[in-house]
Amino acid sequence: MTKVRMGIIGVGAQGSAYAGFLSEGKVENMVLGAICDIDPAKKQWAAEKYPDVSFYDNYIAMMESGDVDAIVTCVPHYLHPEMGIEALKRNIHALVEKPAGVYTKQVRELNDFAATKPELAFGIMFNQRTNPLYQKLKEIIDNGEIGGIRRTNWMITTWWRPQGYYDQSAWRATWEGEGGGVLVNQAPHQLDLLQWICGMPKKVYSNVKYGYQRNIAVEDEVTVMLDYGNGATGVFVTCTHDVIGTDRFEILGDKGKIVVDDSKKITVKRLIKPERDMSDTMSMADVMKIFMGGNSSEIFNEEVIEFESVWGAQHIAVMENFAAHIIDGTPLLAPGSDGIHGVALANAIHLSSWLGKEVELPVDEDLYLEELKKKIEEEQKQPLTK
Ligand SMILES: NC(=O)c1ccc[n+]([C@@H]2O[C@H](COP(=O)([O-])OP(=O)(O)OC[C@H]3O[C@@H](n4cnc5c(N)ncnc54)[C@H](O)[C@@H]3O)[C@@H](O)[C@H]2O)c1
Repeated sequence: MTKVRMGIIGVGAQGSAYAGFLSEGKVENMVLGAICDIDPAKKQWAAEKYPDVSFYDNYIAMMESGDVDAIVTCVPHYLHPEMGIEALKRNIHALVEKPAGVYTKQVRELNDFAATKPELAFGIMFNQRTNPLYQKLKEIIDNGEIGGIRRTNWMITTWWRPQGYYDQSAWRATWEGEGGGVLVNQAPHQLDLLQWICGMPKKVYSNVKYGYQRNIAVEDEVTVMLDYGNGATGVFVTCTHDVIGTDRFEILGDKGKIVVDDSKKITVKRLIKPERDMSDTMSMADVMKIFMGGNSSEIFNEEVIEFESVWGAQHIAVMENFAAHIIDGTPLLAPGSDGIHGVALANAIHLSSWLGKEVELPVDEDLYLEELKKKIEEEQKQPLTK
């Protein structure tokens, strides 16, 4: 195969952007194979914009048409696992959008099925993993440059969304249609990066507010305490109602500290010797000397690295990597099976707030699903009027 023919399932906001990238030849070794959507208006749209590309209103028919080698699932989150499975069953490569699903039980089914088809590509659109900043950050941590992690703090409140965003389609911000709010729609990127770079916590305790500043059923405000089980702790804050949002990620280690500002700048402070050695050898007089106008280079050296990021380039990079994996076995930047970690975190954060207590990971999948179904039932009995 020289070019992968991609079938896009769902041409709403995201799928239509991918159709544009592919039809404009922006994705190396990948072309637009076919388009699928259940909305008749999209059929009309596709006929005008892409008259030479086959359109399907049934994704199974598209997979069985012979028009596509791979699919990408640009549809509401609940549908990603079943579409991934149906594609792989038909020997079609599957790239699922984030999040991998709404609850881990359905994502596990996808992962288990994908494991039976190792010859097929199974990836996930974690586009921020292509950001050189996060790749560098992971490298610094993996190399042990700041030692073992003691604390992680990520405040990511730059996901501002007005009420009109939630009102634009019926599935958004409902338990039944979307399965959650900021934790399943916007923050999955950071939940993935957090676990990719710093590992999974063992326990979480959360304070989550549902419909706090927006007329929605699901969460728009989240504060979580993370416990990594080895003494290390963390705080993760996100929301969709902060117009002047903050994106600041700090990682404190035994041998230094990293601050990431606005996903654009990394400041790494590497201690001259590990903090514990300093504690064992330095007196309070040394501390006063250094912190009261002394020379900080006696304690740490500082490196600042700045990055540029262009919207769209990251998504194209994931698709190019996916095509390269199919064509020549290039390793995937974001293997599909990794998607379960962020979903597990989001589920644990929801569950902690619903039960009002700290919960351990992995969470009880059946309990999570039972509680989620209760939310859906409540919503069906008392729908929000938007
Ligand atoms: N990676 C990213 O940066 C990123 C950004 C935005 C959205 N997304 C993800 O993409 C997905 C879609 O989001 P969106 O904002 O494009 O939503 P959207 O509502 O704009 O579009 C969804 C489309 O899917 C279609 N659809 C629904 N059910 C279908 C089915 N069974 N078969 C075929 N088509 C179907 C709808 O008709 C609609 O056109 C979500 O999971 C979202 O999380 C990812």
